Amino acid sequence: MSQHILTAVAWPYANGPRHIGHVSGFGVPSDVFSRYQRMAGNKVLMVSGTDEHGTPIQVQADKEGVSARELADRYNRVIAEDLTGLGLSYDLFTRTTTKNHYAVTQEIFKGLYDNGYIFPKTTMGAISPSTGRTLPDRYIEGTCPICGYDGARGDQCDNCGNQLDPIQLINPKSRINGETPTFVETEHFMLDLPAFAGVLGSYLQSKQGEWRPNVLKFALNLLGDLQPRAISRDLDWGVPIPLDGWRDQPNKRLYVWFDAVIGYLSASVEWARRSGDPDAWRQWWQNPDARGYYFMGKDNIVFHAEIWPAMLLGYSGRGDRGGSPGSLGALDLPSEVVSSEFLTMEGKKFSSSRQVVIYVRDFLARYDADALRYYIAVAGPENQDTDFTWQEFVNRNNGELVAAWGNLVNRSISMAAKNFGAVPEPGDLTDADRALLERSRKAFAPVGEELARSRFKNAITEAFDVVREANKYLAEQEPWKLKEDPARQKSILHVALQVVDDAKTMLTPFLPGSSNKVHAMLGGEGVWSGMPEMREVDEDGGAPYPVITGDYAESAARWEHRPIKPGTPLAPPVPLFKKLDPKVVDEELARLDNPGK
Ligand code: MF3
Ligand code: ZN
Repeated sequence: MSQHILTAVAWPYANGPRHIGHVSGFGVPSDVFSRYQRMAGNKVLMVSGTDEHGTPIQVQADKEGVSARELADRYNRVIAEDLTGLGLSYDLFTRTTTKNHYAVTQEIFKGLYDNGYIFPKTTMGAISPSTGRTLPDRYIEGTCPICGYDGARGDQCDNCGNQLDPIQLINPKSRINGETPTFVETEHFMLDLPAFAGVLGSYLQSKQGEWRPNVLKFALNLLGDLQPRAISRDLDWGVPIPLDGWRDQPNKRLYVWFDAVIGYLSASVEWARRSGDPDAWRQWWQNPDARGYYFMGKDNIVFHAEIWPAMLLGYSGRGDRGGSPGSLGALDLPSEVVSSEFLTMEGKKFSSSRQVVIYVRDFLARYDADALRYYIAVAGPENQDTDFTWQEFVNRNNGELVAAWGNLVNRSISMAAKNFGAVPEPGDLTDADRALLERSRKAFAPVGEELARSRFKNAITEAFDVVREANKYLAEQEPWKLKEDPARQKSILHVALQVVDDAKTMLTPFLPGSSNKVHAMLGGEGVWSGMPEMREVDEDGGAPYPVITGDYAESAARWEHRPIKPGTPLAPPVPLFKKLDPKVVDEELARLDNPGK
């Protein structure tokens, strides 16, 4: 039965180009999952966009000497290019500065407010004496009042893990210029998280055995200490607060995380409007049979497993204090929060400022998207922090993509093309033939199950086992020695081509670009697995902006074994993957030591 699947992908900050650490967390996993789900016949809606408000953007804009708006425009485009280059098949990748996003965000705020889950509170806020501007919590440093650690930040102490308010810090200093902040009274809106303790508890408990254990454990832990959380900031860059007396205040805006998570919903609404059926989003959000999967890195878990569900529950009138759904109607909770761990780079933390970084666009200028997608799927931070090394990248590229998979495709297709020009007709099959065919056909179910559960490493390992078996089969059968026995040679090559076809299907979610090539080499017609594209759009005459979208429903790819047809013409194959010179490792390491080269 066809299901509605929402793939909700974390929204990258529009404050710089993306590096491979970013895309290993939210990017590649969410795309592998979505491509699989589409192949399995489900109706996927994959949405995201750039996260363009708040201090992360303002601080970078100050650094680059441009306005927040200019910075967001610049990196929205750069990031859309990065993600399109990786073949990430968003149905809509948009941005948080659209009118639509503002309207949906304000609607959610009002619904929560009307149901009594948002209340105002006077707090003490830090001001920079030299600029008169508010100093964001994260930009204040001092000594932790709880453990005495002297690098604690205004929002939390990384040493003891406690949440803090800047005013609690002993000896607070601005991390921007070292000055001592002054504290003044300021009024903010708070999301009443304790009012969701009961319902969040049963929600999370019901996910036992379903979510990755480390994600669930982290989320359950948060429940122990639910505090009201400020959802507004003293800042001029963000979504205005939709209440009389607040709407027009130039220095009060909604907190960036409050508006960002609403992006999943607003992007679905935008997608529906662009599709010509403005209510279509409801099939993914107000449907007991729909499933919503959220992909991110682990620093985002709190916002997706606690705050976003609380917002959805409150808006729907389902918190401990009741209420009624807002004008959009009651909204569904995430079915699963799929979080990755962190990727490090040659043993160090990724850092754009310290140049420990490989940007996606630099990577794609030198290597294929599928080579990176493969590395992330097979050796990425799925369950634990993992290190990217150039040595391992080159080894896996040359040993697994080129020597195992590329070589299987190449030698079976070229031998068949050269000798017969077409998919050969098989004769009587031997036990070895049948065993391999069956091994391959039977892999669809387990590989698919692993993919549906976001166990990408297991899935790709299992699919590659079929590739290895097929190479072993060819080595044993030695069809190249059978010039005198064309009937037998035909059977062997038929079997090999069938397994190549199966394997290319199973590898499609991971390696869509090269699978499309294999599809064409085997004489397949039309688009096998659709690729995303950037389009320029606008909102009723506003400035144009790029979105990522695509017509994936046109793709022929289905998650099933398809018998190949004898007589289908074959063209001599082109190499699928680039073999990398081992020198690449030293070159890349030198680049890291010598940024800009
Ligand atoms: N911009 C955030 C980050 O990069 C992620 C936001 S996910 C969202 O960590 F959906 F909430 F926007
Ligand atoms: Zn501490």
